[in-house]
Amino acid sequence: MSILSKHKILEKNASLLLVFSFLVVTIGGIVEIVPLFYLQNTIEKVEGVRPYTPLELKGRDVYVREGCYVCHSQMIRPMRDEVERYGHYSLAAESMYDHPFQWGSKRTGPDLARVGGRYSDEWHIDHLVDPQSVVPESIMPKYAFLRDRVIYPDHIEQRLKTDALVGVPYDEEMIANAVSDFRAQANPDADASGLEERYPGAQQRNFDRQPQLTEMDALIAYLQVLGTMVDFSTFEPDDNR
Ligand code: HEC
Repeated sequence: MSILSKHKILEKNASLLLVFSFLVVTIGGIVEIVPLFYLQNTIEKVEGVRPYTPLELKGRDVYVREGCYVCHSQMIRPMRDEVERYGHYSLAAESMYDHPFQWGSKRTGPDLARVGGRYSDEWHIDHLVDPQSVVPESIMPKYAFLRDRVIYPDHIEQRLKTDALVGVPYDEEMIANAVSDFRAQANPDADASGLEERYPGAQQRNFDRQPQLTEMDALIAYLQVLGTMVDFSTFEPDDNR
């Protein structure tokens, strides 16, 4: 009896087919799932990726609250058209400290994964206050009110601690200095050496060009860091895994 005709027995017997299908799916499942229990981490660490500064984290919370993700994704797919338009495709490590992640598949506006450094702060202020003033055909809503919403570092320590609970490596020192780091980043006169030490590459300036610290400062600080942590002139993907 050839192997094919043996298979006929299975095909003609529904219960037997069910049992064997179940077996095959189980083996396949085990092969895929079990190794995950032995891996410490499924995300390859990449140099440069650091947790957000307290101010960037606040800006990120504003971003999530305002639902910017409804129109903007933050994931550049490894396809030619995307890479040519937005830059290097997104690495898993670049969103490893994002809770929740902002990948998305809905793009009413452009992907923002690498918008950091692409525009000046002034451009962002004008654009957020009145998008049509810089991009006449834009359908993005106005967010001018963010300039009037003064922010205080009231809960910032707890905010960092919460992220630490889910695995973001905020250490004791970062948490202890959260309030001063929060204020120092948007104050060009403040001593930023501690901030730089804790969050290498953190940009320090008055992001919204107003004396008071507002949600606009925080949001622009966040937008300006997006996609800038990894230096792609030296980055090499690890293909030897
Ligand atoms: C209703 C959909 C919509 C929402 C909500 C929205 N945007 Fe946009 N956004 C757009 C569109 C469309 C564009 C492209 C035209 C333009 O530049 O205004 C855009 C462009 C942008 C750009 C410029 C990107 C580039 O590469 O040129 C930035 C930055 C941006 N949005 C940030 C935000 C932020 C931050 C929020 C939340 C506070 C937000 N957007 C909410 C639709 C939206």
